Amino acid sequence: METLPLFFSLAAVVFAYSIWFHFLARKLTGPRVWPLVGSLPLLFMNRRRIHDWIAGNLRATGGSATYQTCTIALPFLARKQGFYTFTCHPKNIEHILRTRFDNYPKGATWQAAFHDLLEQGIFNSDGKTWLIQRKTAALEFTTRTLRIAMARWVNRTIKNRLWCILDKAANEKESVDLQDLLLRLTFENICGLTFGKDPQTLSPDLPENPFATAFDTAAETTMYRLLYPGFLWRLKKILGIGEEKRLKSSLKIKRDVNGSFFTSDVLQRIALNFVLAGRDTSSVALSWFFRLIMNHPEVEQKIINEISTVLRDTRGPDHNKWLQEALSFDEADRLVYLKEALTETLRSYPSDPQDFKYVVHDDVLPDGTFVPSGSTVTYSILSIGRTKTIWGEDCMEFRPERWLSQEGDKFEPPKDIYKFVAFNAGPRTCLGKDLAYLQMKSVAYAVLLRYRLSLVPGHRVEQKMSLTLFMKNGLRVYLQPRALA
Ligand code: HEM
Repeated sequence: METLPLFFSLAAVVFAYSIWFHFLARKLTGPRVWPLVGSLPLLFMNRRRIHDWIAGNLRATGGSATYQTCTIALPFLARKQGFYTFTCHPKNIEHILRTRFDNYPKGATWQAAFHDLLEQGIFNSDGKTWLIQRKTAALEFTTRTLRIAMARWVNRTIKNRLWCILDKAANEKESVDLQDLLLRLTFENICGLTFGKDPQTLSPDLPENPFATAFDTAAETTMYRLLYPGFLWRLKKILGIGEEKRLKSSLKIKRDVNGSFFTSDVLQRIALNFVLAGRDTSSVALSWFFRLIMNHPEVEQKIINEISTVLRDTRGPDHNKWLQEALSFDEADRLVYLKEALTETLRSYPSDPQDFKYVVHDDVLPDGTFVPSGSTVTYSILSIGRTKTIWGEDCMEFRPERWLSQEGDKFEPPKDIYKFVAFNAGPRTCLGKDLAYLQMKSVAYAVLLRYRLSLVPGHRVEQKMSLTLFMKNGLRVYLQPRALA
């Protein structure tokens, strides 16, 4: 007898939930959602190609470039932690990054996910904690001294290390993993710049670098914390399983290595944030750049012509002089087409493919999308560059010329600067942009003027699922010495 009321109560709950879910699902505009788990099953199925999956979902909106979904289909949570707005609409991005900056901090979810890795460093803080670090760092970044220091570290590494390794590989007809070499190079530069110390990981025997490996694992596993509902990673952390187990052990290695490398906790914290900022981003951008160059010999030739013109002017006609010393500061400044090619690379392969923001108060985005307080807005930087309504019919083509001014003599960003946010924009814009261009130009020159690259047959270039757009299997190439005209 008692089971009957229970049955009716349950039936009423299921009925009420079904009605509620029906209305929720009608409002959502993204991939299919299921009761309770929302779009989690699809997210899980696509976890190894998450950036492309999000880009595909945004394309499927037919040009509106925004969709909404939920990963926890339960009353209350479905409009808070479980609710996600994905967008690549430049006006929305401007609104989030600049106009209503205070309404879209990184937020507690992001900070909790990253706390184990970055603590409260510049990348993982909001409000006053962020502002103080930003102001201090901004002062440093505007000085010419820092640019000179960067040029010195880059040139030293190129001359004393990179060229030795590449020459040896070219002579012995051995392949190299260019991504690995670039990561080592940028790691040395950023350590040199931040601590005045050189970890010497770019030496001919390519020693294992426990810090760098641990850092990669930690960054990769932290991304999973952001993708799934918070209670999942917390549960895994308590149980010590899956990605959380890997994260724990990599953080331990990181601390041990840091213990002897850095001097104080505070310095360590600041430093780690700068390593994240300055190591992976430039090397990953360069890896995609070299990949694109291998597929576009006409762009490669233009770059070689430009570098040759500048060096003929500054160093005379003797080719040996072109190859003896790395680029000077002023030579790098004159390489306009190279800057266009690097920027075009970042348009299609932004080092940070997406970013997450927390919504403090209910708001309406410029395209009319309502975003509830407590939910998350994710803007997909990768999708912006691959959307026809934003970059035109040829958005999938690699065309450095699109960055050339109408007069044809200088680099020109788009009128709507929120069409290109690979370096972020607004108050949190990248502080190291100029340093990054200097470093990337120097490395591009150092590799391309000496060698022609060819991909090792059968090597598959694939994206790795991490916060940074690494190549999963690296970039295996052969090098042939280049004959200069
Ligand atoms: C191609 C190279 C680079 C790219 C694509 C890039 C991109 C970015 C992006 C997207 C952000 C915003 C991150 C966020 O808010 O979550 C950022 C911030 C930042 N970047 Fe870069 N970056 C590059 C190189 C560098 C380098 C070489 C340095 C330093 C030497 C640097 C220093 C910083 C700093 C300090 C911030 C924090 C700004 C803040 O939160 O106020 N970046 N960068």
